Amino acid sequence: MSKFKKIISKKNKTKIVSLTAYSKNIASILDSYCDIILVGDSLGSVLYNYKSTREVSLDTMIEHSKSVRMGIKKALMVVDMPHNTYKNSKEALKNAKKIMLKSRCDAVKLEGGEKIYKIIKTLINNKIPVMGHLGLLPQSDKTFKFKGKKKFERDRILKDALLLEKAGVFSIVLECVETSLAKLVTKKIKVPTIGIGASKYCDGQILVFDDLIGLNPIKYKFVKKYANIRNEISKAVSNYSKEVRKIKFPNSKNTY
Ligand code: KIV
Repeated sequence: MSKFKKIISKKNKTKIVSLTAYSKNIASILDSYCDIILVGDSLGSVLYNYKSTREVSLDTMIEHSKSVRMGIKKALMVVDMPHNTYKNSKEALKNAKKIMLKSRCDAVKLEGGEKIYKIIKTLINNKIPVMGHLGLLPQSDKTFKFKGKKKFERDRILKDALLLEKAGVFSIVLECVETSLAKLVTKKIKVPTIGIGASKYCDGQILVFDDLIGLNPIKYKFVKKYANIRNEISKAVSNYSKEVRKIKFPNSKNTY
């Protein structure tokens, strides 16, 4: 069974586990537990302090993806196509091929529905597997509010999900989507939905890894911190600095 069929076959059977990774060491830990590892363009804000993911370049995504690739043995690896790299079908195909070739990832992710239907179809027709992304779209939305309160939003998201399914995506990320809408979309489409701030009714979940371990000091409602790594790092660095100042490190065990 192909990696993609395996992911799709989990729908209605077992939840799909997914996280972001931006580098090899982290990816190699996540690989044992995740079905999908995403090199998300969230790295723009998490690592580079950019105001938005719109500033992330194709080369930056490729460099991080090359590092992540080295850490993955079994999970499906997806790479975000950054803003402005899929303005039309021709550019999207050229850039997606570059990402696939240089990073050896399994699939790419694009944000949007009807507006990019033809672009997604072109990629899939050219054997580039695509993950969709609906709901809150950080590359194009002006405000970061959850989606699905208003009827027009609900209708559009459901219509877009059905369109993406028709285009042939193997799954769809639903970001910050109201619970009953996420449940409805998940019921109406045959490919899995992967939620982030989109309720337990999605077929799987994704979080930004730095948020999950409490490395990112910013708090979001949809994040649960499973560790407080900032504290752990603080303790370790504090001990190191004390030992250096007291000339306790390095000792004879650490010297040649
Ligand atoms: O860029 C990213 O990390 C993402 C996830 C939040 C789904 O798109």
